[in-house]
Amino acid sequence: MAQPLVIAPSILASDFSKLGQEVSDVVTAGADWIHLDVMDGHFVPNITFGPDIIAALRPHTDKVFDTHLMIEPCDPYLEAFAKAGSDYITVHAEATKHLDRSLQAIRNLGKKAGVSLNPHTPENVLEYVLDRVDLILLMTVNPGFGGQKFIEAVVEKTRRVSKMIGDRPIRLEIDGGVTPQTAPLVTAAGADTLVAGSAVFKGGTVESYRANIEAIRQSVVTSA
Ligand code: DX5
Ligand code: ZN
Repeated sequence: MAQPLVIAPSILASDFSKLGQEVSDVVTAGADWIHLDVMDGHFVPNITFGPDIIAALRPHTDKVFDTHLMIEPCDPYLEAFAKAGSDYITVHAEATKHLDRSLQAIRNLGKKAGVSLNPHTPENVLEYVLDRVDLILLMTVNPGFGGQKFIEAVVEKTRRVSKMIGDRPIRLEIDGGVTPQTAPLVTAAGADTLVAGSAVFKGGTVESYRANIEAIRQSVVTSA
């Protein structure tokens, strides 16, 4: 792990009837970033929320908004997600024909550009964009739903991508099935940013969120 650990709770697992409160609560509980899962019912078999919801949440915290776009196409919507207050905007390599163009468009909007790979997507698609990305997100579940089982084959991929990154200032993020059991596997392989939905929001109170975040942090520290 080259950079300090970031824990990015995914509000997908929070109570949608009080999203603003959930964001404030999870920040109080120690979240470093807020992860926002945008799904379109086309690229992935589920629909969540769009830029208006993100804009409505923006005043609830000044923490980094880490927007994970699971939408196809993505280019027509990048500006809206930038204006909504995203700090990082991550697109799927599988959801854009011109990955380099999408990444450039995000940076031209003044935002940090991320690229995400589904579990089965080989990491060689990253090779020619490595010098133009700020974040690489490796999916450890098939995108679309929270609460799925961590796919262990991605641990080796994490190790290989970490090597590809070398000393470039690129965050290596893992998303899907992250728990105190799986977190140490990926941080040992080089991940420095962990998305966690169900493992953070279980319990439904600030105290439980705090304990859940702390359990993930400790699992990584004690195995380091
Ligand atoms: C899945 C989303 C994830 C999801 C993770 O498509 O990208 O961010 O919220 O949820 P858990 O941590 O429950 O696997
Ligand atoms: Zn996500």
